[in-house]
Amino acid sequence: SAHVQDDLVKVLFTEEQIHEKVRELAQRIEQDYEGKNLLIVGILKGAVMVMADLARAFNRHVEMDWMAVTSYGSGTKSSGVVRILKDLDTDVSGKHVLVVDEIIDTGLTLSWLTSNLCSRGPASVEIATLLRKPDAQQMPVEVKYVGWDIPDEFVVGYGLDYNESYRNLRDIGTLAPHVYS
Ligand code: PRP
Ligand code: MG
Repeated sequence: SAHVQDDLVKVLFTEEQIHEKVRELAQRIEQDYEGKNLLIVGILKGAVMVMADLARAFNRHVEMDWMAVTSYGSGTKSSGVVRILKDLDTDVSGKHVLVVDEIIDTGLTLSWLTSNLCSRGPASVEIATLLRKPDAQQMPVEVKYVGWDIPDEFVVGYGLDYNESYRNLRDIGTLAPHVYS
């Protein structure tokens, strides 16, 4: 369809709901990290939108950095072995690191990533995610900030893609079946 929005069969969260939730998370984070150096780390590419909105919801100073990771081997994520495609530019030693992602699915990426970051000697490592799928989880991962828990459905928008499309949708929703076929 000409309009990307028309391919959604169901809207789970509207732009307004997302922004309200992100502001709420930002407020909690601001309180928790008062007086501390904060480095937020976005996981490319999905976390771009939530990083941009979260950072701008802060009234405090914050450092921003990025990592790109991929699962080892072929398309499947079940191995739990993650490869770093782009590492941080920043030395995290002594810093309070908050990893920001838009979704935790199996938990494999974030579980591997937090232990990797912890080995670099930061002051702390915590996770913030907009969405989490409790029913899809394979690896326990401690998440301090969660926007919403959602059912195990394929969702797109606000950074989440299907074949690299739909990341720029302002809402989050599920795709109409005709898109897949
Ligand atoms: C998604 C998402 C998380 C990860 C979560 O990224 O952004 O980083 O998968 O999945 P998991 O909990 O099962 O490990 P993806 O690998 O699709 O890359 P993208 O952000 O570039 O779309
Ligand atoms: Mg993706």
